[in-house]
Amino acid sequence: MNILVIGSGAREHALAWKLAQSPLATGLFCAPGNAGTAQLAENVPISAEDVPRLAEWAQARGIDLTVVGPESPLTAGIVDVFQARGLRVFGPSKAAAAIEGSKVWAKELMWRYGIPTASGAVFASYDEARRYLAAQSGPIVVKADGLAAGKGVIVAQTQAEAQAALSQIMQQRAFGAAGDRVVIEECLAGLEVSLLALTDGAAVRPMAPACDYKRVYDGDRGPNTGGMGSYCPPGFVTEAMVEQITARVLEPAVRAMAAEGIIYRGVLYAGLMLTHEGPKVLEFNARFGDPETQVILPRLDNDLVALALACIDGTLHKETLRWHEGACCGVVLASGGYPGSYRTGFPILGLDALDADGLVFHAGTRLEEGRAVTAGGRVLTVAAKGRTMEEARARAYDNAARVCFEGVHYRRDIAEREVG
Ligand code: AMP
Ligand code: GLY
Repeated sequence: MNILVIGSGAREHALAWKLAQSPLATGLFCAPGNAGTAQLAENVPISAEDVPRLAEWAQARGIDLTVVGPESPLTAGIVDVFQARGLRVFGPSKAAAAIEGSKVWAKELMWRYGIPTASGAVFASYDEARRYLAAQSGPIVVKADGLAAGKGVIVAQTQAEAQAALSQIMQQRAFGAAGDRVVIEECLAGLEVSLLALTDGAAVRPMAPACDYKRVYDGDRGPNTGGMGSYCPPGFVTEAMVEQITARVLEPAVRAMAAEGIIYRGVLYAGLMLTHEGPKVLEFNARFGDPETQVILPRLDNDLVALALACIDGTLHKETLRWHEGACCGVVLASGGYPGSYRTGFPILGLDALDADGLVFHAGTRLEEGRAVTAGGRVLTVAAKGRTMEEARARAYDNAARVCFEGVHYRRDIAEREVG
């Protein structure tokens, strides 16, 4: 089969790496890809956002399976466009991707169907939202409705902070039309975990749970980023909890959408807070998580091509996911200045000095005269497996220390809480 991966991050490199291991994969392409995907696939210079050109190219090139990484082509309807051309594509339709594309829609779906989540309210009017906020006390969370590159959620500690966030979203329109509506919700406390599931619209198969780190500095300080590291599995998430989240969150969400006439196929990602009242949904995503994918897929024993086809064909009930024992830890190496402004084009050294079983997934990299240079804020995820988290973590950091580019920085505390 000719397989196309859409996207250019470390998540997509990890997807391409896993798909390439399938005996079903005879040709592998990545659009637009990066210097890492170029080593195992043919990069196609078409943007992940350019849905019409991607569809045209996939048809002309005879692509048999497309796997979509990022959210924006999904919410733009890439799956519908590919399907209309008779192309097989892994991911939710435009209507189903609204579970990520509209926080208001996702929230109202959860409230309607009793899926555990923070309580709160939805507003389309700035004045009403402002008055509601004024009547609240303590920490509170303000969320822009639409996609805002991970920046549309403000966990406000004070009334003043919350009002400033609301004004930024709805009056100054910091995220454009994504801020036409807001969700204002209670602030939940607890440990966070990501549970991703494969689904064909009926069967739901949870993957191994994972944790990610969104803040730029150790100890969860500093601004939010696209993700600075991850590990799988967290010791504080038991198998019984995975079953509970599947039964109370993931399956009900898929059934709720089906009840509304929307068949959800692909990966459904639940970001959860484990509160003293049980797990509650912080957000749903319509895709694989980044950087969770980089530590989940190395532990997956199944053929990912076969699983993707089962989701598309509605035969996932026949599949059982199998996981390698042990753990995986991933550290994101970022450009100096990220998540603020940063320079690119610096040579990346030491990639040939990694352990043979060390994993490096490229994100913001490109080839310049045959060498990898930096080309983005998050540059690489360096990951490693181990029999224990302690071993995985030690190996990941050992390998990360051998990679070097000007200005490189990374968190030193990924998975630390597991080994303390
Ligand atoms: P989201 O994009 O909705 O996952 O929000 C980004 C981050 O904001 C989450 O990973 C949480 O750390 C935090 N967050 C979101 N909603 C809440 C909430 N209701 N209470 C506490 N923290 C939250
Ligand atoms: N790791 C968070 C996300 O993929 O949205």
